[in-house]
Amino acid sequence: MDIHFQNPSGEGWRADCALVFVFEKERPASFAPLLWELCPWLESSPALRDFTGRKDDLTLVYGLPELPISRVILVGLGKKDAFSLSVFRIAVAKAVHYCRGRGFATLGLPVEALDALLLNRGILIREAVVASKLCLYRCDTYRSAKDENETPPDPRWLGLLFAEEHIPEESQQAARQGEAEAAGVALARELSNGPANHITPAVLAEEAQRLGKAHGFACTVLSGEEIRRLGMGALWAVARGARQEPRFIVLEHCPKGREKENPLVLAGKGVTFDTGGISLKPAAKMHEMKGDMGGAAAVLGLFAAIGAMPKADALPRIVGLVAAAENMPGSDASRPGDVVATLSGKTVEILNTDAEGRLILCDALTYAQQHWSPVALIDVATLTGACVVALGDHGSGLFTQDKGLRSAFMDAAALTGDLLWPMPLWDEYDANLKSDIADVANIGAREGGAINAALFLRRFVEKGVRWVHLDIAGPGYVVKASPLHPVPGGTGAGVRLLCRFLENPAAFADEQQEGIC
Ligand code: BES
Ligand code: MN
Ligand code: ZN
Repeated sequence: MDIHFQNPSGEGWRADCALVFVFEKERPASFAPLLWELCPWLESSPALRDFTGRKDDLTLVYGLPELPISRVILVGLGKKDAFSLSVFRIAVAKAVHYCRGRGFATLGLPVEALDALLLNRGILIREAVVASKLCLYRCDTYRSAKDENETPPDPRWLGLLFAEEHIPEESQQAARQGEAEAAGVALARELSNGPANHITPAVLAEEAQRLGKAHGFACTVLSGEEIRRLGMGALWAVARGARQEPRFIVLEHCPKGREKENPLVLAGKGVTFDTGGISLKPAAKMHEMKGDMGGAAAVLGLFAAIGAMPKADALPRIVGLVAAAENMPGSDASRPGDVVATLSGKTVEILNTDAEGRLILCDALTYAQQHWSPVALIDVATLTGACVVALGDHGSGLFTQDKGLRSAFMDAAALTGDLLWPMPLWDEYDANLKSDIADVANIGAREGGAINAALFLRRFVEKGVRWVHLDIAGPGYVVKASPLHPVPGGTGAGVRLLCRFLENPAAFADEQQEGIC
């Protein structure tokens, strides 16, 4: 579905169906006065009497078919004082999804009706574009036949209807930014939903190279042999049981003139399938572990978004790392009790081969610090079941001791609707990681498992490096559909959160070192 703009000096307004969002107990006409002028039939329509404005109230109002706008959907937003961007996104998603179900080919969104919601216009345009795209997502890649009856085609376009003669640049950029973010989320979903026999470490690397070519990012991929020779013993230990070779991916967005700047570095966990290895997982729900590359998907999705952003040149230098491997049992797989040397030189005793995410990530963290002096180092991973126990299916854990980064992420999450919660990094628990024979063990106590995993990663972050760990084990992959992710499975969690975070350069500017917490 394309996004385009209409205004009076152009062709005027036209669409198969216009969408108007209205608070409970308010007069719809006051939300879109121009539309009401253009569609005089609205006021006399009997359907209007049924509309309450309550949340989930969708009322379709018909005009005559030959009119430039022949239908209007009134969408209830519920009570004005309970309104939020989340309420708005869900309302847009439900309405656009409904329109697809009815076969409406072209949709119109009067911007005056957004202005009536009393939030920033640019933000509402961006969120409307994102929600209208995400609610149409489907994963048909692996079906042989597309059943047209079951899955009606998407609307051809969504037109933003402006009253101004000249469409403000800011509004156009907001829409383009929304499209870019939605494209990033869609790619992340596609990768997370992709079965492990299709989405292998090599395929993740090809995807990164494709992004590099399409958008001008530098992209380097290390092969299994290079990973081993470089000394990434922890990543290699995870990958060695699998026939699929691991890959280590480096993607870089460097706007002109920023070559000398220290980059922001992101690292994603890309376990394309997690059987648990020799510490094999139970069979039930194991298939969900095709989504154990959700962190990698978020990093690649972010780069897809950056590539499509209207103002990508205003972003800082950003490096994306993906450590990709398959965690399989096999005659050459790592055994519980094995000791391996990591890239940092520290040795790890692998007490449980199912705690593999932290192993591949510790080498990625070291790689980042050996190659750059990151202004901030951020890892994203479907790291622990314990985080899902702590925060539920939808909550992500935010682990950092940097106050500035913590509040930047919390602020970003408030805007994107991500459920993100700060988690502790208590020194007292670090002793859980003691190994009898190596520098550190890869598991601690079962209790506080998400914290122990984060503390393991912290062992590989040098003093003074501003570091954030995002555990997206819950929201990365969900078993229930919802308006913004209509297909159960990969959600693209992390992509929008990172996009928003990047927009706040103060959060990670070099000179902004803030206190620890
Ligand atoms: N990929 C899993 C974590 C996970 C669990 C993600 C559920 C999404 C949903 C991770 O590699 C893992 O297996 N972690 C173990 C760690 C344990 C062995 C210390 C876990 O959480 O049980
Ligand atoms: Mn595991
Ligand atoms: Zn895993």
